Amino acid sequence: MVQLTLPKNSKIGKGKVFKSEGASANLRTFKIYRYDPSDGGQPSWDSYQIDLSECGPMVLDALFKIKNEIDPTLAFRRSCREGVCGSCAMNIGGRNTLACTRAIDDVPGGDVTISPLPHLPVVRDLVPDLSNFYKQYASIEPWLHTTEAEPKEEFLQTPEDREKLDGYYECILCASCSTSCPSYWWNGDRYLGPAALLQAYRWLVDSRDDAKTARLDELEDPFKLYRCHTIMNCANVCPKGLNPAKAIAEIKKMMVERA
Ligand code: SF4
Ligand code: FES
Repeated sequence: MVQLTLPKNSKIGKGKVFKSEGASANLRTFKIYRYDPSDGGQPSWDSYQIDLSECGPMVLDALFKIKNEIDPTLAFRRSCREGVCGSCAMNIGGRNTLACTRAIDDVPGGDVTISPLPHLPVVRDLVPDLSNFYKQYASIEPWLHTTEAEPKEEFLQTPEDREKLDGYYECILCASCSTSCPSYWWNGDRYLGPAALLQAYRWLVDSRDDAKTARLDELEDPFKLYRCHTIMNCANVCPKGLNPAKAIAEIKKMMVERA
């Protein structure tokens, strides 16, 4: 179930209803979480009825249609429209995913409910505050640490070593996994969460990196790493088909091996 981080003392109201004027048989209603801190009002679920025969196939197309033709005040993030930038992650039909790669027809049920990524402070409407998420990502130092002199062109790797990064380097930092994880919901200030830990593992297995011991020392903490209880929501929702839980298990294995 989606749990939203509501502004203090707030209740979610019913909100406005925008009905389609056409008589098309292809209508669908989008129920969207609305919150604007600048107007001092309460959050609400606003409903927008859309004629799908006049809309692109993806949820992001519907959001654009609403913003361009019905309600220009709706706020959401997006950039690439291709599942590459990670900025359009939100909760659609009860599941964290990317609005640009989620087909409207694949969202089950009648109304399509859309809310921001759960358990994060909301900046406005569908825009969550990702400051803590990025701070945690920065904390794993996601860059190459090496004592080797800088080569003229590039640090080389064997094809076998390069393959060890498959399944990890593809992460687009959309935060769908971390914000679907109950451990992260309750301990997001101290548990690094699936996304940051997947990225940590990506550097731990990089043959060109020399900081394995220091990186493991940094993660050896009852909260940062060990709050993963293998709930697996992360692997279930990742829109890139990655498995952060596996990366976390591999880090735990490295901890045991070095002990
Ligand atoms: S692992 Fe998947 S869900 Fe998590 S941040 Fe990366 S791409 Fe998004
Ligand atoms: S807009 Fe870039 S991933 Fe959706």
